[in-house]
Amino acid sequence: MSAETRTKRITIPDIRGRKGGEPIVALTSISAQTAKLLDDHVDLMLVGDSLGMVFYGMDSTIGVSLEMMIAHGRAVTRGSKKACVIVDMPFGSYQESPAQAFRNAALVMGETRCQGIKLEGGEEMAETVRFLTERGVPVMGHVGLMPQSVNRLGGFRAQGRTEESAAKIVADAKAIAEAGAFSVVVEGVIEPLGRTITDAIDVPTIGIGASPACDGQILVTEDVIGLFDEFTPKFAKRFANIGVMIAKAAAEYASDVRARRFPAKEHCYGFSAKDGGKASKKRAAG
Ligand code: KIV
Repeated sequence: MSAETRTKRITIPDIRGRKGGEPIVALTSISAQTAKLLDDHVDLMLVGDSLGMVFYGMDSTIGVSLEMMIAHGRAVTRGSKKACVIVDMPFGSYQESPAQAFRNAALVMGETRCQGIKLEGGEEMAETVRFLTERGVPVMGHVGLMPQSVNRLGGFRAQGRTEESAAKIVADAKAIAEAGAFSVVVEGVIEPLGRTITDAIDVPTIGIGASPACDGQILVTEDVIGLFDEFTPKFAKRFANIGVMIAKAAAEYASDVRARRFPAKEHCYGFSAKDGGKASKKRAAG
């Protein structure tokens, strides 16, 4: 069913059931207003911790806090009615132990009312994914280029260039899927790895810089609309240039204010557009 004609919020089993079917359309979302605009067009919105970079101006996602994710998660669930909303667990909020992950995931779900959470990691996180899913927390995995591991990886680089590293990423995806994840984001991997992973696991893969063969695709909305240009990954296609429009609007506003063209009568209280302000002058004169 197209997102526009949908009346109810898409569920985790709906997403899980799209394996091998119509591609899952996903975008990141971090505000109520954006969520409202995207809601008719996407199946899934991710409140991604990329907000650290595209919203807060950080140079990586490492400094993002649980409080930030909860605040933006709340805004997105408030702004949307149809899309499945998933919130990223930030760095340091789940890696310590399955118990820590459950405590923080339950907080995120309770505070934001999102449908599930996403966490990064492969085989080493499988036990945590099992712990969470068995206790009612739907988990989306994230393998390949994992931005929270940027310091270990030495930068944002496509992964799976050697046979050994490709095999490790496949093993990671399998481990997370077998542990109960309802879908797995596959980021920044060299083809045909995205296809291999998609064939190897029985839950949907959502690609970002991965492969057209993935069961769905996700991009960071600010990349899609041209609102973030500090760093543009090869895989990000720009569908609009809102950044240029914002700068143009700001320049025109500034020029109107400086020339006293703004505010005009119609923007002021007490003037009536019809009588050119005569009535309000009379009122003021008493
Ligand atoms: O944080 C994020 O926006 C993400 C997507 C890139 C998948 O994890």
